[in-house]
Amino acid sequence: MRGSVVDNVIILAAGEGTRMKSSTPKVLHKLCGKEIIQRVLETATELNPKTIVVVLKHEMQKVQSFIEALNIPNIKFVEQSDIMGTGQAVKDALQVIDNKTYTYVIAGDTPLISGAVLKKMFEAHKDARAKATILTTQIQNPTGFGRIVRDGKKLKIVEQTDASKSELEIKEVNTSNYIFDIPTVLEFINNLDTNNSKREVYLTDIIEFISNESTVETVEAQNPAEVLGVNNRVQLAELSAYKYFENAKAHMLNGVTIVDPKATYIDDNVLIGQDATILPGCVISSDVQIGKGATVGPYSYLRPGTNLGDGGKIGAFVETKNAKIGKGSKVPHLSYVGDAQIGENTNIGAGSIFANYDGKNKHQTLVGSNCKIGSDTVIVAPKKIGNNVYTGAGTVVLEDIKDGEKVVSQNKNRKI
Ligand code: UD1
Ligand code: CA
Repeated sequence: MRGSVVDNVIILAAGEGTRMKSSTPKVLHKLCGKEIIQRVLETATELNPKTIVVVLKHEMQKVQSFIEALNIPNIKFVEQSDIMGTGQAVKDALQVIDNKTYTYVIAGDTPLISGAVLKKMFEAHKDARAKATILTTQIQNPTGFGRIVRDGKKLKIVEQTDASKSELEIKEVNTSNYIFDIPTVLEFINNLDTNNSKREVYLTDIIEFISNESTVETVEAQNPAEVLGVNNRVQLAELSAYKYFENAKAHMLNGVTIVDPKATYIDDNVLIGQDATILPGCVISSDVQIGKGATVGPYSYLRPGTNLGDGGKIGAFVETKNAKIGKGSKVPHLSYVGDAQIGENTNIGAGSIFANYDGKNKHQTLVGSNCKIGSDTVIVAPKKIGNNVYTGAGTVVLEDIKDGEKVVSQNKNRKI
């Protein structure tokens, strides 16, 4: 063995994703706040390959620009030729691969593919001295997937639309994630034809050729959600629900109370302190921090850059963004807090708005500690409000406010 060196990872992402019925390429759809392809690439990076080759075609420029912005090292892009099918995609990728021994092929539409499962494949592949290793899983409703058809040690993959009645009964499916010995692939890839119901060059057809001559290994993933691809928006929603629950579970096991995890949407990369409570209906984006013992919700939207201090509160129907809310400070009801820094033990009254946008630019607001911002206060940013400040109900803050000042807007009643 040559040590655990992964030479290449080929990611197949040239397809349009017709079944998504979308003007956005499939791999740019988001799952729990992050694009499918970004998730796949992050996992591929965990394998530490010498090269990652991404095969693109449909909306190539758009997908490539998105990926380039992620600054992933050792990445190459290949445009698939006009011939369609996963076999053609791999054939085209082979043109740019130098070191041709261990190569993963990963479907670009498998958002939750786990690094652990991929590493397990690598061990199995080496142990069996296999020429190909397929990641499979068992699912109750295998409709649409390629079936793993076994005959003693021999093995082939039959696509749904080409399967016989008895093959359709098989529940073990191809997840479209493989490890290949590239010299073996080169030996057989020209045997692939378009003689199938979709008139495409199927990568899956190579398995039968390899299996006839040498060992094809399989690794069965126990958890289908971690290995299945997304073809339509129903599957996207199913995998999202799974991932949101997993994220909530991790926080709960860390000591966070989540009253109804099925109704709580926490993206990746969120930090929540012990004994915090998240009430139902909240959407918590990535890059959010919630302090120890803090309370959030019900029904609030915490966008990136929100940082709620220990013991603080973001209550019901509140939206926050780029907002640092200090220890013990509260935004209990119906507010928008954007581009703000609030000190400690300040209360932001019901319905208050941080008006951060002047139609052209966004501006910052600073609010000190121990303030009582009255209900329905509008702070027209940029503003600096000191410590121990009071504003009356309905105040429109048009000037900075110094420490200890009390401010009201003239707002007389007129009886008519
Ligand atoms: C494929 C497998 C099937 C497996 C399933 C798992 C084949 C023939 N079938 O079917 O056995 O059960 O995945 O999800 O491989 N792509 C390209 N170029 C192409 C066609 C596809 O790069 O010409 C990419 C797509 O962008 C996608 C991935 O390959 O990311 C899979 O393609 P898709 O059309 O979704 O294949 P399935 O029909 O799901
Ligand atoms: Ca697919």
